[in-house]
Amino acid sequence: MNDQLVAIQADALARIQAASSVDELTAIGQEVLGKRSDLVGLRKQLGGLDEATRKAAGEALNATTQAIKAAMADREGGLAGAERTARYEAERLDLTEVVDPPSVGHLHIVTQTWQALEDIFVGMGYGVAEGPEIETDWYNFEALNIPDSHPARSMWDTLWVDTDDADGHPMLLRTHTSNVQIHVMQAQEPPIYVVAPGRTYRRDTTDATHLPVFHQIEGLVVDKGITMADLAGTIQAFTQAYFGQEFESRLRPSYFPFTEPSAEFDIRPPGGDWLELGGCGMVHPNVFRHVGIDPEEWTGFAFGFGIDRLAKVRYAVDDLREFVTSDVRFLEQF
Ligand code: DAH
Repeated sequence: MNDQLVAIQADALARIQAASSVDELTAIGQEVLGKRSDLVGLRKQLGGLDEATRKAAGEALNATTQAIKAAMADREGGLAGAERTARYEAERLDLTEVVDPPSVGHLHIVTQTWQALEDIFVGMGYGVAEGPEIETDWYNFEALNIPDSHPARSMWDTLWVDTDDADGHPMLLRTHTSNVQIHVMQAQEPPIYVVAPGRTYRRDTTDATHLPVFHQIEGLVVDKGITMADLAGTIQAFTQAYFGQEFESRLRPSYFPFTEPSAEFDIRPPGGDWLELGGCGMVHPNVFRHVGIDPEEWTGFAFGFGIDRLAKVRYAVDDLREFVTSDVRFLEQF
C-alpha cells in the first residue's frame, strides 16, 4: 500500500502544480480526494488488514491525504491571486493619457530680459513705473518738447488710432516709453528714481532689426544737483551689472528733443566692437516746465533703450523676428 500511496501523492502533486485555474484545481481535487478516488478506495481496504498493519497504513493514508490537501490550498491561493491580478489589470482604466513626461514651459526670453533689467535697477534703488500704451499726442510728443510740426517728429513713425481723447486730442500708440516720464512727474514730487519698461509701437516694416511692436525701458532721475557724470556713472554701473564687469560703456553726442545735452550710449565687450544701445541725456528744462517742476531747483537725467535689441545682443540672436514667430525650437533655447 505504501508504494501505491507514494505514487498517488506524486501524481496528485504534479497535477495540482500544473493546474492553470481555480476551476481546474477544483476538478482535480474531486478526482484525487473524492468518493471515487484511489485514496478512498485504499481506505476501504483498511478493514481487511491486521491490527498493526492497519494502524501504520491508516497513518500513511492520512499523511498522504493531508499532503495533497495542503498542496491544493497552497496552489489555490496562488491561482486566485493571479486571477485577481489579471482581472484588475484587464479592468484598469488609463485616465492620464500621458505618453511622454510633460514638458514644462518658461517665460519668453524678452520677458526674462525685462525682469532682469527691472531687478538691476531695483537693486540700484529705482522704483518701477507703468504708463498707457494708447496715448495722447501731448504725453508722447508735446510734453516731451516735441511740438506739432517739429521736424523731430519724423524720428518716430507713429501709428495713430482713429479715436480722439475726451478733449478732442488725437491719440496714438506710444512710440517710446518716454511718455511715462511725464506721467511719473505729474504724479509724484522729486526726488524721482524710476524705470518704466513696457511695450512700444512704430509704423516700421518688420525685418531682422525692426519689429512694429517692441519693448523699451525708460529711466528717469530727478533730484538736486544731478549732472551728466551721474548719468555716465549710472550707464556704466548698469552695463557692468547686466553684461559683466569686463564690459565698457561710452556716451556719444546726439540729439533728442527732450534732453539737453543728449547722447547715445554704446557698450563694448572686451576686444569687441562698440554696439549702440540707447539714448539718454539731461532732462530738458521745457519738459520740467510742462509738468510744473522748477528747472532752477531740480535737474535730472533720462535714458531709454530697446529690451528686444538688448536681448538680441546678449543672446546673439541674429534676427529679431525670432522673438515673435513662436517657434519652440528657438524659444526652448533660453
Ligand atoms: N525715446 C527715445 C527713443 O525711443 C529714447 C530715449 C532717448 C529716451 C533719450 C530717453 C532719452 O529717455 O533721454 O528713441
